[in-house]
Amino acid sequence: MSRSDDARATAYDASPFLPRDGGLDAYRRAAAKCQGCPLYENATQTVFGRGDPSARVVLVGEQPGDQEDRQGEPFVGPAGRLLDKALAEAGIDRGSAYVTNAVKHFKFTVPERGKRRIHKPPTLREMSACRPWLGAELDLVRPEVVVALGATAGKALLGGSFRVTKDRGSLLPMPGAEQERYVVATVHPSAILRADDREAAYAGLVSDLKVAARVLNGS
Ligand code: URA
Ligand code: SF4
Repeated sequence: MSRSDDARATAYDASPFLPRDGGLDAYRRAAAKCQGCPLYENATQTVFGRGDPSARVVLVGEQPGDQEDRQGEPFVGPAGRLLDKALAEAGIDRGSAYVTNAVKHFKFTVPERGKRRIHKPPTLREMSACRPWLGAELDLVRPEVVVALGATAGKALLGGSFRVTKDRGSLLPMPGAEQERYVVATVHPSAILRADDREAAYAGLVSDLKVAARVLNGS
């Protein structure tokens, strides 16, 4: 990597695109024009969070997938359907939640001779570039509990030492929060679709989501 590449690389940052004030709608409109990292170049559109602006629970995924990129909404593809089912089973109403992603643009490759767009994990630089949007969403919604779906969301919320295996399923204090607000981490719904033992993986997701549900039910 040349020196000038390096200088440009360290400049990945969504902050200059954030509005100075306004509600979620103002942030959504501004995020639609974000060029804070190169991911906007090949994706169809920014996929900002959706849901109840005063939700008590926020669910955070990794980044939009193929369907989300086309439709402009988070978790509307296969992973979203699985998530909806698990949420219902855990007693969390998706309609009263706010759902978003750690990274707001779809990152993918198109294999030679292929047509299907294959998901690629975001890099640390892209994750930190996009972090201000998630920060703004959490500041505006102020949920009591945030569910981190998978490692990318976990790292965005809890820092680089986060590990799903070690940290999942328990009530963790929300970093920087002045009162009782929590993070609950679990696996990413897509990981369940790929798991050898899907049933066990799914049961694990539901059981972690129930930890968040208990906060909401005050028990
Ligand atoms: N996977 C995610 O992490 N987020 C989505 O919105 C869809 C799939
Ligand atoms: Fe901006 Fe995030 Fe999209 Fe990068 S991924 S362009 S930081 S919205």
